[in-house]
Amino acid sequence: TKQKLWGGRFTGKTDPLMHAFNESLSYDKRMHAADIRGSIAYAKSLTLVGILTKEEEVKIVDGLTAVGKEWENGTFEIQPDDEDIHTANERRLSELIGPLGGKLHTGRSRNDQVATDMRLWLLEAVADIEASLKAFIRVMVERADKEKSFLLPGYTHLQRGQPIRWSHLLLSHAFSFLNDLQRLQQLIPRISVLPLGSGALAGNPFAVDRDFLAKELGFMSVAENSLWGVGDRDFIVEFMMWGSLTMVHLSRMAEDLIIYSTAEFGFVTLSDAYSTGSSMMPQKKNPDSLELLRGKSGRVYGNMSGFLMSLKGLPSTYNKDLQEDKEPLFDSVATISASLKIAEGVIATMEVHGEKMRKALTMDVLATDLADYLVRKGIPFRETHHVSGRAVALAEARKCQLNELSLQDFQSLNDKFGEDVHTVFDFEASVERRQAIGGPSLKMVDRQISVLRAALN
Ligand code: ARG
Repeated sequence: TKQKLWGGRFTGKTDPLMHAFNESLSYDKRMHAADIRGSIAYAKSLTLVGILTKEEEVKIVDGLTAVGKEWENGTFEIQPDDEDIHTANERRLSELIGPLGGKLHTGRSRNDQVATDMRLWLLEAVADIEASLKAFIRVMVERADKEKSFLLPGYTHLQRGQPIRWSHLLLSHAFSFLNDLQRLQQLIPRISVLPLGSGALAGNPFAVDRDFLAKELGFMSVAENSLWGVGDRDFIVEFMMWGSLTMVHLSRMAEDLIIYSTAEFGFVTLSDAYSTGSSMMPQKKNPDSLELLRGKSGRVYGNMSGFLMSLKGLPSTYNKDLQEDKEPLFDSVATISASLKIAEGVIATMEVHGEKMRKALTMDVLATDLADYLVRKGIPFRETHHVSGRAVALAEARKCQLNELSLQDFQSLNDKFGEDVHTVFDFEASVERRQAIGGPSLKMVDRQISVLRAALN
């Protein structure tokens, strides 16, 4: 049958299992558009240095465009010998335009080609993910803005701590995702570096204009070292590290909501659209969407750490191990994109039960405020902390709420307690006292909303 593109020095045939082991077309075909774009730009650069005539360039570009159309229409016919997207496209180009197709690869290697394709493909994926991340944060901000009146206990160690606004909690997650957004944007200049023109390893002997190529393909800069250009995959590692951290944030938010959706808490109810039932227990409504967000964080982290292990110990420049960059990257992009959309849907559609949250507020979460009350009367906090602790113990012994202790009870603990001690036992007032930047008071929640909105615009 047909000769392999690299078949000249070979007499023996590839073992069929080796072909299957070696091929990457089954998954790198998703880079077909990037591969065609890169080749079109490269053909133009070859004309500029006199390797192609203008007519030859036009024929090649038309041929490449036709190949690209076949991919888009789903009519591209993969042949048994096609190894990867680069060989498949070149094979098809030559079928369409004849031996002239064989001029395209002059001075180019799949090594600089694949690195270019990966960067082009990832840049588009990053743009999509950036948009999804923004939409997700926006949903959180809008929800927080609408539900500012809901108060609930803030937890540390999953034990009731102090009263906060529900919006404050939701926005705490939004700030993690804002950091993720900024980190993602900071990756772009390091992804947007052009390898094309690095050749197999030792650069391009036909003096192609790499600044021209970068401009044609929209790269921000040009790889300054050809060995690095073909051998670097740090941009993929970095993206997956970014993804791992972003998924950890999704996982932690999911965990909050999983706990809050239990009957024991009952703070939120997931919409049917993001829940599933049990095959045995008819009453069940399970938060599978959130559990999958939590679970898939492990998968993205695994992709990242697995590929780092593939890189470890590789000698310089291109080695076939680098083909192992694709499946983890593609899987991470797909997983992260879907996760962000699911998370957005969950947050947009869940019911939030303000009354249930309010009912979880017990008077003991105002013990810190009780200590602060005495601080305002001039007593050192270490002392007031102790006094408030004794008041909590007293209420516990009496089996009553902290605010049900009498003035005499309070005064038996410290004589600075006055009639106004009852003002402490007001959850709203507690939250509103927190006027410093970053607090859960209305004004500070509004400030957070403005900061987030400004960052998204
Ligand atoms: N399919 C290969 C990859 O994904 C393309 C580069 C192959 N280059 C080579 N010299 N074998 O890495």
